[in-house]
Amino acid sequence: MTAPLQLSAGGSLYERIGPEALSALVTRFYMLVAQDPDLAPIFPNDLTLTAEKQLAFLTGFLGGPPLYHRTYGPPRLRARHLPHAITPTRGRAWLACMARALRDTPQIGEAEARELHSALTRVAAHMVNTAEEGGSQNTGVGQLLSID
Ligand code: HEM
Repeated sequence: MTAPLQLSAGGSLYERIGPEALSALVTRFYMLVAQDPDLAPIFPNDLTLTAEKQLAFLTGFLGGPPLYHRTYGPPRLRARHLPHAITPTRGRAWLACMARALRDTPQIGEAEARELHSALTRVAAHMVNTAEEGGSQNTGVGQLLSID
């Protein structure tokens, strides 16, 4: 089983991944989001600021400097996502884009990729705020994809 965010082993996940690889990951991720039929409709056409905010957030979340906090204040991510209808399908699509972006970013090692994806799976489950169109009410973590 993959342990979440091992901040002690070899430094923070941020240190182990490094700012360049993290930035490459975020850029790749939003290129995939822009092409995803479930996700693209709820995101702005221009993803520049969204990507900047995500990079700032992930930097702090993974143990680096609290860049998001400094510029935008407390993340309160669930509240910030409430204006957007985040169904389990969109949660899975988000995680699938992240899994693919991780695979396509070879500077990020497999262990770090697994840890990051595992942590993001939990955050993504927390962002789901809307039942599936068509009736299913299951919004649990078990409904969301793992990297495997
Ligand atoms: C579960 C699937 C998710 C969906 C469908 C989703 C969707 C969105 C959307 C539509 C926005 C607004 C974009 C904009 O107007 O710029 C947003 C913003 C954001 N998302 Fe997500 N998100 C998801 C999960 C996550 C996760 C897991 C994280 C953290 C790792 C995250 C971090 C952020 C951040 C930092 C912002 C910017 C907030 C701000 O406006 O300051 N999101 N997301």
